[in-house]
Amino acid sequence: MKEFEKIMFVCLGNICRSPMAHGIFREKAKNAGLKVKVESSGTSAFHVGEHADSRSISTLQSKGIDIMDLRSRLFVASDFDDFDYIFTMDSSNQFNVTEMAKKGNHSNLPEMVMNLSFPNEDISVPDPYYGGQTGFEDVFQMLDGALDELIEKLR
Ligand code: 4NP
Repeated sequence: MKEFEKIMFVCLGNICRSPMAHGIFREKAKNAGLKVKVESSGTSAFHVGEHADSRSISTLQSKGIDIMDLRSRLFVASDFDDFDYIFTMDSSNQFNVTEMAKKGNHSNLPEMVMNLSFPNEDISVPDPYYGGQTGFEDVFQMLDGALDELIEKLR
């Protein structure tokens, strides 16, 4: 039996949505007593090395979740082998990661994270980067529900 599951969350910049998923899921797993490895990454290198967006940090801070340790990194082909589950935030991330999987003949295909709550509906978590603070709260609410489902699935 595997000792623990390894979970990767992917968005475009790895500064808004996937770091939120990373922090929320890490917290839920800790509270559930589930040992997991969690990381996040982006399909673009625009923000590599940066902290999460200050609005992601403050939204999670208001829920008691700290993501100050996270830094943006690129999703790379070796992640297909290094993670058991790859969850994307929107249809564009899903397309890009699926294309990488096909090119490298990887069988570990990504799944859209909101399909955990609404199977087969392929609902995107909207990119909050160009909007205001409320977009980040909306992202939190969507991910909070979906990641409760992931905890149940892994229990
Ligand atoms: P994320 O949001 O993919 O949720 O991290 C974005 C962050 C930055 C950009 C786009 C989306 N950008 O164009 O720089």
